[in-house]
Amino acid sequence: MTKPILPKAVSAAVVDPAAYGEWNGLHEQLAWARANAPLAVAENSDHDPFWLVTRHADIMAIGRDPQHFANGIRPTVLTNRDGEALARAATPGGDGHLIRSLVQMDAPDHMKYRLLTQSWFMPKNLRIVEDRIRQIARDTVDHMLESGGTCDFARDVAAHYPLRVIMDILGVPAEDEPRMLMLTQQLFGSTDPELNRNKVEITSAEQAIAMLHYVIADFENYFRELTADRRANPREDIATVIANATIDGGQIPDRELAGYYMIVATAGHDTTSASTAAAIMELAKNPALFARFRDAEAEKAGLIEEAIRWATPVQHFMRSARADVEIGGQTIREGDWLMLNYVSANRDEAIFDAPFAFDPDRTKNQQIAFGFGAHVCLGQHLARMEMRILMEELLPCVKSIELAGEPARVESVFVGGLKRLPIRFEAA
Ligand code: HEM
Repeated sequence: MTKPILPKAVSAAVVDPAAYGEWNGLHEQLAWARANAPLAVAENSDHDPFWLVTRHADIMAIGRDPQHFANGIRPTVLTNRDGEALARAATPGGDGHLIRSLVQMDAPDHMKYRLLTQSWFMPKNLRIVEDRIRQIARDTVDHMLESGGTCDFARDVAAHYPLRVIMDILGVPAEDEPRMLMLTQQLFGSTDPELNRNKVEITSAEQAIAMLHYVIADFENYFRELTADRRANPREDIATVIANATIDGGQIPDRELAGYYMIVATAGHDTTSASTAAAIMELAKNPALFARFRDAEAEKAGLIEEAIRWATPVQHFMRSARADVEIGGQTIREGDWLMLNYVSANRDEAIFDAPFAFDPDRTKNQQIAFGFGAHVCLGQHLARMEMRILMEELLPCVKSIELAGEPARVESVFVGGLKRLPIRFEAA
């Protein structure tokens, strides 16, 4: 059977950081793909061809089947051909993963490593840190109120709160947070000229890889010192768990150690910030919704779940087929590369009524922003809890919120969301 090929406009949009920044045009292309070619190949001159997976059901089916769909074989984030070749040349055994974290692992390593910290992120343990998180939320709200009625919510508020929470849980001291924030933005925003390390347009794979090397080396140097400290002085934090963990009877090798810290340190803030900013943007646009959720008694879960669906901060992950397999009516061949497009799946008309309406009252919100299957987001309960606590602390403290300028999105194919959200508010 021949592989269905996507029209050029769709293939071009799904690899274009600017399309994810602009957003509405991207949604038009994805809606077309869901309706006409939900599992079809994107061909672009710079990238190896890959299957674009746009339907919710197909992403679930792939997540459910790690036997056939691996994380470790090809890059887990879209990388162009030159970039992949350079990364392969620069990595041990040529595996092409500049970072080897949980995300790049498959069985049996994946579960061994995941289990080291999994219990930390379960709701039962998170209750222990709830008071600390609430204090960080209160400080964040105080800081916002001090700004006197206008701020860039994305930059001044949303970007800092989840960072402080994850750094607290990880064990990074407050004075080092600006460095962590900068490095994460450089890592995830490496294609956005406003956010990347050298503040430049990226014109070649060499340039992108060289920049990423510096960012990763900075992270590694930082975490090397933290490891030494926690081996000498164990504390009640995740750094202590990671630094002192053993795998197959020995210490975690350096590469995996750095990868572990980096995934925990980075996965949890730009993502949670993006969902938080999305919630505030929708409340700023809709005074009736704002009035409802401002009520201290109002249950916030529906608002939070819908904001996560709406924002879909992790816009895709890639998988590679280990063997020939049928899925969604197509035959995927061994070695094929697939883009799980969560942005599309979270607007899938087959799953969501009126998917383009922001509706906190969806009865069963099956949003898939945290992925699905063995790699499902380790921090999903933490992300929801952080958002709930911030909404509980913030909303009663303001009488009104409105947009005070044009919001702008990050230009990135991977982690996206609002980088600017100018708002005006009146303190209560
Ligand atoms: C994995 C999304 C917050 C830590 C993932 C995946 C997605 C995701 C899509 C990959 C799932 C898959 O491949 O099936 C999000 C979103 C968040 C968020 C949308 C916020 C709204 C967090 C937080 C943490 C975190 C707060 C805290 C540390 C991780 C880790 C993984 C992961 C460690 C790798 C899990 C694995 O490969 O086994 N996340 N995440 N995330 N996330 Fe999150």
